[in-house]
Amino acid sequence: MFPFYSCWRTGLLLLLLLAIMVRESWQTEEKTCDLVGEKGRESERELAVLKMMTPLFSKSFESTVVGQGPDTYVYKFRVCREASNHSSGAGLVQINKSNGKETVVGRLNETHIFNGSNWIMLIYKGGDEYDSHCDKEQRRAVVMISCNRHTLADNFNPVFEERGKVHECFYLFEMDSSVACTPEVSHLGVGSILLVTFASLVAVYIIGGFLYQRLVVGAKGMEQFPHLAFWQDVGNLVADGCDFVCRSKPRNVPATYRGVGDDQLGEDSEERDDHLLPM
Ligand SMILES: *[C@@H]1O[C@H](CO)[C@@H](O)[C@H](O)[C@H]1NC(C)=O
Ligand SMILES: *[C@@H]1O[C@H](CO)[C@@H](O)[C@H](O)[C@H]1NC(C)=O
Ligand SMILES: *[C@@H]1O[C@H](CO)[C@@H](O)[C@H](O)[C@H]1NC(C)=O
Ligand SMILES: *[C@@H]1O[C@H](CO)[C@@H](O)[C@H](O)[C@H]1NC(C)=O
Repeated sequence: MFPFYSCWRTGLLLLLLLAIMVRESWQTEEKTCDLVGEKGRESERELAVLKMMTPLFSKSFESTVVGQGPDTYVYKFRVCREASNHSSGAGLVQINKSNGKETVVGRLNETHIFNGSNWIMLIYKGGDEYDSHCDKEQRRAVVMISCNRHTLADNFNPVFEERGKVHECFYLFEMDSSVACTPEVSHLGVGSILLVTFASLVAVYIIGGFLYQRLVVGAKGMEQFPHLAFWQDVGNLVADGCDFVCRSKPRNVPATYRGVGDDQLGEDSEERDDHLLPM
């Protein structure tokens, strides 16, 4: 009876441990942007922009502002991740360089986002309260992200702090990122697509024909050109056509006409066809 009892106790202990571990992992789960509304009742539009910004989640940004006297500040910012290990849930913090004091400018759990054609606006509210300014309201960070196709994210910079208002004050920041750009639409119309296709086919024809003539037929020099005789005929016909249409003064027409045309058709093309016949 004893071993069974012990086993049962061990099992219970393990179960308890497991429960604690699961709870811990739930609690230490990374904080992320929390939009207004319960899960499933958030704005579709905000969720779409949030999805667009996912590549930025892994990045950290920092910018130093050297003010007058001892006032040097470092701003740390992350998109939908905690910007600091010292302030829980902070998306953007300000650190006073002279005394190391950290102030939360905005928190992840009060995120608002929206976008335009080439920018995204990210707002973190719920920061630490002002001591005396702005009706002692909570600080708020406004980050304007502008489209820049050359960088995933760069140039994070504070613009200014608006604290001269009675309330609704904010810290304004700007940043460049390619995620703020609307996807580039293809400017190729039907015509240019046809043109590109045609050019590709011509290239394939010339290169393929060239290789065939050179490697299979064993042609040399100009004869490596695919269907040389045919194209020479075409060229001559076009030239004759031009001659006929464009020339104003008659030039011993019959001679040229017969000379070039017959020459090509007579021997050259037949000779080359013989080469091809056994294939
Ligand atoms: C927070 O702590 C982790 C591990 O100690 C470290 O890797 C990370 O850089 C810290 N983050 C900040 C913003 O200081
Ligand atoms: C930053 O620290 C310096 C030195 O302690 C202090 O004089 C200054 O008022 C602080 N600034 C803020 C905004 O707390
Ligand atoms: C956000 O988090 C802070 C501190 O973690 C808390 O005081 C505040 O009530 C939260 N805000 C919302 C809207 O949940
Ligand atoms: C905002 O982003 C969405 C995609 O998330 C996009 O479809 C929409 O066109 C953007 N808004 C504007 C005004 O460009």
